[in-house]
Amino acid sequence: MTKPEIICGDITKLDVDVIVNAANSSLMGGGGVDGAIHRAAGPQLLAECMKIAAERRPGSPCQAGDAVITGAYQLPCTYIIHTVGPIWQGGGQGEAEILASCYRKSLLLAAKTGLTSIAFPNISTGIYGYPKDKAAAVAVESVRKTLDETPNIQLLLFVCFDEENYNLYEKELKN
Ligand code: APR
Repeated sequence: MTKPEIICGDITKLDVDVIVNAANSSLMGGGGVDGAIHRAAGPQLLAECMKIAAERRPGSPCQAGDAVITGAYQLPCTYIIHTVGPIWQGGGQGEAEILASCYRKSLLLAAKTGLTSIAFPNISTGIYGYPKDKAAAVAVESVRKTLDETPNIQLLLFVCFDEENYNLYEKELKN
């Protein structure tokens, strides 16, 4: 089974099959990594997201815990999987299950699309306020469980944007 790896850096620069975006349910872009990905991918990404949103009306384009795949346009990667993490509300609103679902559904969608390399940001640990230590534990456990079901995934990167996350993931992967 593939062993997840950790790198520190900008996910928009990675030449993997797919990068995962920590989006919001509108898929219309935002700040953080969502903003960085939309800026780097260019306007065609928003156009595709608007098409998906129109097709899914009156429902929301992407529910929390779910995942949607699009092209990557001007990015070096080939696809983007947009997933919506939970907003941290203290831990009693099913946040851990929703966060685990983000990693699981993104990985299953990548495998179903025939992809072999995927990079994840630290979903929900920025604007959505999920405690980094708790999020790292959920992410590693969810990915480890799902990798058993996705044998074609050969490279899985956790892309950390700060040292705190990097150290937390290093500790979690040693467990
Ligand atoms: N590459 C990798 N990681 C990044 C990058 C980048 N270029 N930019 C930011 N990050 C990191 C942040 O430091 C954080 O660790 O991504 C992690 C996720 O933080 P956010 O991007 O704030 O995402 P999240 O906490 O899931 O909040 C989602 O923010 O941008 C909006 O539209 C988005 O409403 C949604 C919300």
